[in-house]
Amino acid sequence: MYEQASHSLLNEILVELKPEIGNLRLRHFYTRLGANFYAIHSLFHLLYGDRPDFKEQMVSLVDTLALRYIERAPALRKSDLARERDYNWFLSQKWVGMALYCDRFSEDLKGLRKKLPYLQDLGVNMVHVMPMLDCPPDNSDGGYAVRDFYRIDPRFGTTADVAALASTLKKRDMLLALDVVVNHTSNEHEWAQRARRGEKKYQDYYFVFDDRETPDIFEETMPEIFPATAPGNFTWDEEMGKWVMTVFNNYQWDLNYRNPAVLIEMIDIILFWANQGADILRLDAVAFLWKKMGSVCQNEREAHLLLQLMKDCCQVTAPGVLFIAEAIVAPGEISKYFGEDAINAKECEIAYNATFMALLWDAVATKNAAVLGHGVKNLPSKLERATWLNYVRCHDDIGLGFDDSDIRLAGYDPAQHRRFVLDYFTGRFAGSVARGLPFGENPKTGDARISGSLASLVGLETALENQDEAAIEAAIRTIVLLHSMILSFGGIPLLYYGDAIGTLNSLEYLADPAKAADNRWMHRSHFNWSKAEKRHQSGTVEQRIFSALKRLIALRKETTAFADFDNRQLLAVDNPNLLTFSRTDPQNSRNRVLVIGNFNTEPQTLPVSALSTHGFFLQGSMRNLCSGEQIAEESGAIIIPALSFYWLSD
Ligand code: GLC
Ligand code: GLC
Repeated sequence: MYEQASHSLLNEILVELKPEIGNLRLRHFYTRLGANFYAIHSLFHLLYGDRPDFKEQMVSLVDTLALRYIERAPALRKSDLARERDYNWFLSQKWVGMALYCDRFSEDLKGLRKKLPYLQDLGVNMVHVMPMLDCPPDNSDGGYAVRDFYRIDPRFGTTADVAALASTLKKRDMLLALDVVVNHTSNEHEWAQRARRGEKKYQDYYFVFDDRETPDIFEETMPEIFPATAPGNFTWDEEMGKWVMTVFNNYQWDLNYRNPAVLIEMIDIILFWANQGADILRLDAVAFLWKKMGSVCQNEREAHLLLQLMKDCCQVTAPGVLFIAEAIVAPGEISKYFGEDAINAKECEIAYNATFMALLWDAVATKNAAVLGHGVKNLPSKLERATWLNYVRCHDDIGLGFDDSDIRLAGYDPAQHRRFVLDYFTGRFAGSVARGLPFGENPKTGDARISGSLASLVGLETALENQDEAAIEAAIRTIVLLHSMILSFGGIPLLYYGDAIGTLNSLEYLADPAKAADNRWMHRSHFNWSKAEKRHQSGTVEQRIFSALKRLIALRKETTAFADFDNRQLLAVDNPNLLTFSRTDPQNSRNRVLVIGNFNTEPQTLPVSALSTHGFFLQGSMRNLCSGEQIAEESGAIIIPALSFYWLSD
């Protein structure tokens, strides 16, 4: 499209804007609208250009952007300007995140503010508070089945409490990340209720069908996300007398983005939460945004166009706010959610590194880094100004979403290997110390994913039961090793709330009929504050884990080579138990860190010849950042202790 066309449309729109918008001081808004309008118009036209009401919809979109800009608080506008100037601010190594449930970590939003010293003690300065919006209590999917996008669940507090939390966090130099559930609503959302009552306008917000014909065509190619608890992708709604698309649970209705009104509503919701002081918005299940018959209905090109639009619109109104893409998809697809071209098509600045997460779990099961090494090597390169969210555990299950080709390169048969990893973590493999459960088992495909807390998956629960000190030590080492990887890999590490004190699986969810069928709740338990207190008591499991992680976090923040400027180099070493990479400070290339992780239960030898070709160990020794000691070669090799790691510098 020629820019002239969008310029003249912009001029027309500016004349048609609501009169109250015209009178306000909107200098920065207009500058940003001018800069982004060509992209917004082109994308909107690609998606909705053939509609007779195209221009009306465009006006309504720009109205939304302007009205939310007018409402944006001066302090947030100031931070927008500062972040526009310092646009790489989030790539710094200084950020360390944690995901937590407001009600499970504290009680409510006010209580959460009082618990911030715990996070600060550990060194966490970015808080992802899991979704807190109003959901039907029995059908909430942990906050992801939203009934009202503008209302905080009264059990947690009010919108004002969110704004207060945001401002307290700001004073502590901490960031707030909130969810926006963009793909679906609860079946009790007002739009769904009105659709059920027969309002055509709201039926058009969803995928609604009179009979099974179209749903059956979709089903031919759509996989099932929760096959065990919510099989199929459509649900019959008795009241409406129609089928509705429900990809996740049957009470989560998929939004239909073929309708521009849905996109505009969602952009309004995004900007609303940006205006409550969120620094980062986690966009849930973004891979699913566009549905197309004959496809798997994930990672469609239009899903990317929608995200580009959301980003461009956010740049106009709230440019300081970042997006996290939650797209738990194949390695080659995830990085596309950064946008494939930084200049023309930006999407989310941050994406869950689900590939690395799953690969780390592969290394735990196999006790070697063979698949991990190939997987890391083949991770698609990402754009500048984009960064990974690196995590070990989160509130969801672990899916083994790495590539079969990397399994083959490691010398395993993919199907057998996946079966082994699954059996290992679900305790079906003889001799396994892991205590996970299978999640989302699909008898048709044989697939399953894994639930369980970090500590229980690495064997801490078994070891404690057996009072086996060596096994306890091995589990703790594994927890620290996994964190050493996400803290040094490049990207923002995201810890999970119970993990720094070794929280085990909890079966408390089984007593709640609304949760009992979803075993992801076994790793979403109430944070145990008396257990957390034990972090101050020398020699306890809690203290051993917490103090080690706290130290690593502090070191990460000091180590400029850990900032993410695509400055990681994987080193080929001739020992499949080790993952070895270097990180180089982009400002000063002499400032480098050599990271070596040993996933094996035996100490491993690494010949220095493999390292000296890259300029390491030229003086025969390097400094271990964690202990301050020199690690010296002996007979041409260094030894990495069992289930351990080194961060080495010159
Ligand atoms: C995301 C959430 C998950 C939820 C799903 C459906 O994947 O992380 O917990 O079940 O979306 O909303
Ligand atoms: C599906 C989704 C993923 C989510 C998971 C929850 O795998 O792709 O986003 O984490 O379901 O179980």
